[in-house]
Amino acid sequence: AHRTHCRHFLSLLDLSDVEARALIARAIELKRMLKAGQDYRPLPYRTLAMIFEKSSTRTRVSFETGMVQLGGHALFLSPRDTQLGRGEPIEDSARVLSRMVDAVMIRTFSQETLERFAAYSSVPVINGLSDRLHPCQLLADMQTYQESRGDIRGRRVAWIGDGNNMCNSFLEAARLFDFELRIACPEGFEPDAALLAAASDRCTLVRDPEEAADGAHLVATDVWASMGQEEEQARRQTLFAPFQVTDAVMARAAGDALFMHCLPAHRGEEVAASVIDGPRSVVWDEAENRLHAQKALLEFLLTVAA
Ligand code: CP
Ligand code: NVA
Repeated sequence: AHRTHCRHFLSLLDLSDVEARALIARAIELKRMLKAGQDYRPLPYRTLAMIFEKSSTRTRVSFETGMVQLGGHALFLSPRDTQLGRGEPIEDSARVLSRMVDAVMIRTFSQETLERFAAYSSVPVINGLSDRLHPCQLLADMQTYQESRGDIRGRRVAWIGDGNNMCNSFLEAARLFDFELRIACPEGFEPDAALLAAASDRCTLVRDPEEAADGAHLVATDVWASMGQEEEQARRQTLFAPFQVTDAVMARAAGDALFMHCLPAHRGEEVAASVIDGPRSVVWDEAENRLHAQKALLEFLLTVAA
């Protein structure tokens, strides 16, 4: 095999705690520089290939805009019109693309696809969401918390709803950024067992959303049916009905608690409109910070860690 040893970002835990904190600080600095109109292009002529097996608004636009702002370029690749969709092996695609571009972002179904691609790629590979994890979103969310409330270390976070890719990444974030996590999910929709076990010193799993939200400094949720689970939508809507983040749930949280959602959201399902459109919601900051946090990630992978 042609295995290589460059740095990848397939999971939050590909960063050390020191690197993760430096990256968030850098994202805040890059945001300040952009707003001050400062030209900063450390990646001239560098290219990022973006492979999307699933739909995206934020991830695509933030990576593409970020690369342009850093002086580089991004390519949108869909399986529908590349050879990836016609069965070219992932190992071959990885070796070919990484001979041409400087980094690859992949949004895929199985984490295993990402890992296989990374094993054969000679350039950094970034997880732009898999069925298992969504680490780029957590970078933006950690930046958002830091900007709004300061250090998240020692704070209490409530995850309410599906034990999905976002929940799994919150479990990894709890270890990396050192916060307490309380998860409320329906039976049978728990997060990854290994990730839960690894975070057992700081994570509790309950069945009652209000219990999970008790005293929380941050309450987060996500859609009840993720991409690829469309046919389960009706069944999930019934099972998850008691897990909506309502004003009553938020009332159990700390007085200055924030509400987060990676978006897209379904008002009246996982979150009440009064919460997501209310004063404690920071969802638009989270979306914007995808741009700044990923610029810091690209700069890190292509310059600092290269
Ligand atoms: N939050 C997020 O990843 O959004 P997109 O699916 O629009 O990229
Ligand atoms: N859990 C959702 C997140 C979308 C950004 C999904 O995987 O579809």
